[in-house]
Amino acid sequence: MTIKITGTGSALPERKVTNFDMAKLVETSDEWIRERTGIVERRISTGETVASLSAKACELALEQAGKKPEDVDMIIVATCSPELLLPCAACQVQGIIGAKNAVAFDLSAACSGFVFALCTVYAYMQSGLYRNALIVGAEVLSKLVDWDDRSTCVLFGDGAGAAFVEASEDKAEKSGIISMVQGSDGAKGMVLSCQGRKLTNAFMEEAVEANEYIHMDGQEVYKFAVRQVPACINEALEKAGLTVDDIDHFVLHQANIRIIEAVAKRLKVDISKFPVNLDRVANMSAATIPVLLDELNREGKLHKGDKIVLSGFGAGLTYGACVLIWD
Ligand code: UT7
Repeated sequence: MTIKITGTGSALPERKVTNFDMAKLVETSDEWIRERTGIVERRISTGETVASLSAKACELALEQAGKKPEDVDMIIVATCSPELLLPCAACQVQGIIGAKNAVAFDLSAACSGFVFALCTVYAYMQSGLYRNALIVGAEVLSKLVDWDDRSTCVLFGDGAGAAFVEASEDKAEKSGIISMVQGSDGAKGMVLSCQGRKLTNAFMEEAVEANEYIHMDGQEVYKFAVRQVPACINEALEKAGLTVDDIDHFVLHQANIRIIEAVAKRLKVDISKFPVNLDRVANMSAATIPVLLDELNREGKLHKGDKIVLSGFGAGLTYGACVLIWD
C-alpha cells in the first residue's frame, strides 16, 4: 500500500507583528530576538481561530488534491490551543467544510502534533479502515502566552497548515511515507507546560491556583531538542534504509534557528537542506511543519522523487520523525 500526501494548504492570520512591535510591549529588542531565535515577525490572531484557520487550510489542501469534502474519511486536527473545549476543533472543521462522511477528532502532542497525526492516519490506512484523510496542525498560541513575559511572548505565532493524505494500492514505484519514529518523555514534561482551567467545584473548600499561561525552561527544551531530534531522524532513516545524504529536504519544527543549525551540524548535513520560515511566522507549534511544507510545495521546491524528513519536537515532551518520498 502507498500512503502519500497529495495536497497541502495553509492559512495565517492577517495581522503581522514585528520584533519592533514586540519591543513596544516588553523590554526586548529586534536584535535580541533575531540573534537568539531567528524570528523577525509573526502573525497574531485578531479573531481567527484554530477552526477557522484550519478550515481554510483544509479547503486549499482538498483543492490541490482534486478531492471534494465528501471524499474525506477522517479529519485530525493537532492543536493545543483550540477555541472550544467541546466540541473539538476537528468536528468544527468538519462542519465548516462540509466533510459529512468523515470521523473527526483532535490530537494533543504540541509541536510534534502534525507528525503524530501523520503517523496516526498512516496506521489507520495500513489497517484498511480509511483511505482519505485531512490532517491539520493549527494553533492560536497568542491566547496562551503571557504578553508581559518577554521570555515566551516573543517566540510564538498563530497559523494552520493541512495535508490531504491518500492510500492507494499503487505499488509501481516507492513513494509516500516510508518510515516513522515517535517518542515521548512524560517525566520531563513540566519543562514546557500550560495549565488548563483551574479545578473548582461545589465540593472544594479552596480553588486551586492556576496559571493558564505557557511556562518554559528554554534551555532544557533546547538541550532536549538538540539531543533527541538527530537521534530520532537517524532512527527513521535507518528504518527506511536511507542515510542523511539521500535526503533532499529536512522539514523541521520551526522553534529556533539555533536548534535547526545544531541539528544540521550533528547530522553533518549542509544547512541549505533545512528550509526555514520561522523568521516570518515564528514558532506556531503543531502548525510549523505543515505551513512550511505547503510553502515549499506551492513555491515548486518539492519535486517528484524528492526524499523528505519531517521532524517535530516539543511539549510532552514529545518527538517524532517521518521519512517520505514526494510524488
Ligand atoms: O516548540 C518548542 C518551544 N521551545 C523552544 O524552542 C525553546 C528552546 N529554547 C530557546 O530557544 C532559548 O532557550 C530561548 C530563545 C528561549 C532563550 O534563549 P537563551 O539563550 O536560552 O536565553 P536565556 O533564557 O538564558 O536568557 C538570557 C538573558 C536573560 O537575562 P539575564 O538573566 O542574563 O540578565 C533573560 O532575562 O536574556 C533575557 N531575556 C531577554 N532579553 C531580551 C529573555 N527573554 C528576552 C527577550 N528580550 N525577549
